[in-house]
Amino acid sequence: MKTLLLGSTGYLGEQFKKLYPNALVPRIDIGDRAAVISLLDTEKPDTVINCAGKTGRPNVDWCETHKEETLRANVTGALILLEECLARKIYLVHMSSGCIYAGDNEGRGFTEDDLPNFSSSFYSRTKAWSDQIMKDFPVLNLRLRMPFDGSRSERNLIMKLAKYSKVLDVENSITYLPDFLDTAKKLIEKRKTGTYNIVNEGVISPYRIMELYKEIVDPAHSSEKLTLENLGSVVKAGRSNCILSTDKLKGEGIEIRPVEEAVREALGQLKN
Ligand SMILES: NC(=O)c1ccc[n+]([C@@H]2O[C@H](COP(=O)([O-])OP(=O)(O)OC[C@H]3O[C@@H](n4cnc5c(N)ncnc54)[C@H](OP(=O)(O)O)[C@@H]3O)[C@@H](O)[C@H]2O)c1
Repeated sequence: MKTLLLGSTGYLGEQFKKLYPNALVPRIDIGDRAAVISLLDTEKPDTVINCAGKTGRPNVDWCETHKEETLRANVTGALILLEECLARKIYLVHMSSGCIYAGDNEGRGFTEDDLPNFSSSFYSRTKAWSDQIMKDFPVLNLRLRMPFDGSRSERNLIMKLAKYSKVLDVENSITYLPDFLDTAKKLIEKRKTGTYNIVNEGVISPYRIMELYKEIVDPAHSSEKLTLENLGSVVKAGRSNCILSTDKLKGEGIEIRPVEEAVREALGQLKN
């Protein structure tokens, strides 16, 4: 398999680079169609993994004031890759997001077929637009949520939460990166197409994660509970809080470990 990895300098891209050490990691603007065409025609990959996108620094609020760059990377670039890969029968793997939903879908969790229902941030709107278009084509569209691992990366959910004095006490589906990568690899090996929610089993709130952080990593840590009603006072764009269904993955015979077990493993690594 000749694999081309885009966005290889990002949080997810760096992980995929470890998973596929022989992948080519060119740095082009995916919103530049001529550059994409030239790259695909020169390298002739079998597989393109798209980890390129604008997520905002220090967070998605950035996307509210940088709409053109966000649109170019998350929508225009994603669609250029889609069209050019389809035209060359190249297998495309795209990083989507579960942050296009709000709520728990009356206890059922949102499936891959449910329409997005969260539009309070520009970032989420761009991810929903590209997600919905990918669904109509034979590409592998992977939805993850609030990824975390045992690293000190500023992009790791646990490291982000540890910096806040107030954290939300709302249950969510979240994704442990090592489990995400295992699952992505299995789906890629099987040449699966379609959309897949990839989150750990069960739900957890950011506040519970910080309780475990205090227990395992830093007994001196303290954080206050933040309610959803008060979230608006600390962020600019809305934040998705949602629960995703993993039934489709289970239908493929893939079970992802319970979320609290994964959080404990990540915290154990952080402690060391
Ligand atoms: N992290 C999350 O919470 C999360 C959750 C769900 C889904 N996702 C999705 O996963 C993907 C990767 O996220 P991430 O957390 O790894 O983001 P990240 O750390 O911000 O990295 C983004 C990567 O995309 C590259 N990039 C940005 N604009 C580009 C463009 N126009 N053309 C080519 N490359 C471009 C960046 O390169 P430079 O450094 O050179 O700009 C960087 O390598 C995104 O699509 C994101 O929406 C992320």
